[in-house]
Amino acid sequence: MNDAAPSHLHATSGHHAPATPASPVLLARDVQRTYRMGRVTVPVLKGAGIEVRHGEWVAILGSSGSGKSTLLHLLGGLDRPDAGTVEFRGEDISRFAPRRLDRYRNAHVGFVFQFYHLLPELNVLENTMLPATIGVGRWEWLRRREEIRERARGLLERFGLAHRFRHRPAELSGGERQRVAIARALMRNPEVLLADEPTGNLDAKTGESILDMIAEQHRAGLTIVMVTHDQWIASRADRVVHLVDGRVA
Ligand SMILES: Nc1ncnc2c1ncn2[C@@H]1O[C@H](COP(=O)(O)OP(=O)(O)O)[C@@H](O)[C@H]1O
Ligand SMILES: [Mg+2]
Repeated sequence: MNDAAPSHLHATSGHHAPATPASPVLLARDVQRTYRMGRVTVPVLKGAGIEVRHGEWVAILGSSGSGKSTLLHLLGGLDRPDAGTVEFRGEDISRFAPRRLDRYRNAHVGFVFQFYHLLPELNVLENTMLPATIGVGRWEWLRRREEIRERARGLLERFGLAHRFRHRPAELSGGERQRVAIARALMRNPEVLLADEPTGNLDAKTGESILDMIAEQHRAGLTIVMVTHDQWIASRADRVVHLVDGRVA
């Protein structure tokens, strides 16, 4: 982590150099992705493109199975397109070697998923700290563990989870789990937050509170790409694009 002091809790992008108006943070061009299962091929993305500018909150709206998660995974470097490019600040991440792609993901992207993806055997504090421990050697860990722990504690406290540090995910409500997942996503102060149906497993009221949290990060300067099948949820974003028939309309 090369970011500010642990007391700096706002996950703003303020200390990242802002992109110039002409250069998007993320730019997917003519992206194609087909899944192959034996002899069956499922073409999902058929030339999709999206441009995300610094500080923007973009919602990708599409029906179930339209390829929203697939597109988000490509933007976050969790998967590679069969054709087309995915640029982060002008560099084509789809051609990065595996370790470089890992570094891109760890350094610049925070993920939030519908089903939280917390590790059940770790407690809340450990789950939150996890991204900051990846790729950290023993010495660095010894040197920095207090700072890392402090940042995790600070985020969790801010998200109303101060009384939950030692709890396992199974002991939390859905809303609490998602708040932990957001804290974890912000742990390394990413430039982009990628949220895949972040309220999809929550009741309406809890979902609203999660969207309020995301909105707060947005106001603090974070760039956000959120996918959803729900028009109402999408309307919280600055801009909504539609994923239809493998393309962004
Ligand atoms: N790993 C995979 N292998 C095969 N098919 C997949 C895989 N992931 C997704 N699909 C299929 O691709 C389509 C798009 O999936 P997805 O991107 O998850 O859509 P969405 O997130 O919009 O619901 C669906 O038909 C899904 O069944
Ligand atoms: Mg999905």
